[in-house]
Amino acid sequence: MTDSSSAADGALPPLVLEQPNEAGAVDALIERAFGPGRYVKAAERLREHNHPLLDISYVAWSEGVLVGCVRMWPIRIGATPAVLLGPFAVEPEWRSRGLGAALILRACEAAEAAGHALILLVGDAPYFEPLGFQAVPPGRIVMPGPVDPARVMSRALAPGAAGVLTGIVQAADRS
Ligand SMILES: CC(C)(COP(=O)(O)OP(=O)(O)OC[C@H]1O[C@@H](n2cnc3c(N)ncnc32)[C@H](O)[C@@H]1OP(=O)(O)O)[C@@H](O)C(=O)NCCC(=O)NCCS
Repeated sequence: MTDSSSAADGALPPLVLEQPNEAGAVDALIERAFGPGRYVKAAERLREHNHPLLDISYVAWSEGVLVGCVRMWPIRIGATPAVLLGPFAVEPEWRSRGLGAALILRACEAAEAAGHALILLVGDAPYFEPLGFQAVPPGRIVMPGPVDPARVMSRALAPGAAGVLTGIVQAADRS
């Protein structure tokens, strides 16, 4: 998918669902944004042997270049189904225009519309709190690797969903 919006014209490119044949472009953007080996290891454990939920994972293309992405993954927290958000990246020349926030909010809306009750992520509270995420109280959940508890954040999409936020976090798709 291509779009004619450019970083110079001020408009954000449209947000569209990631397509199955776009995994290479998404991986390349993530590597450019994070650098090699900069993934949060605990979150990466949840993506191994798992598949992104392409009905709620969004990308933004500008003039044939992938400039933004947010991926969503099926997980379980204890026995409760949930969604892991990330990686999440925006190409440097497109940053600080609201594209990142737009991607997060669109993915959250789509997850809610698809019936998901809870989103979990590992990220920086100053960025994600204004987008509706809250730090998970320490000791409630067990991630599959070391992680700063202050960076484990969730957003409930259904009433009461945060109340069942307890247990071991695992990938839900082991295919
Ligand atoms: C994080 C990221 C996706 C934000 O994309 P974006 O399109 O610039 O996001 P927005 O336009 O919605 O918000 C930009 C604002 O968030 C701030 N911000 C960016 N990353 C932040 C962080 N980790 N913590 C706090 N604030 C952050 C920026 O400084 C900017 O502030 P400004 O508007 O005052 O300049 C982008 O900076 C990026 O790709 N970073 C590298 C990869 C990364 O860190 N991903 C997130 C992992 S949790």
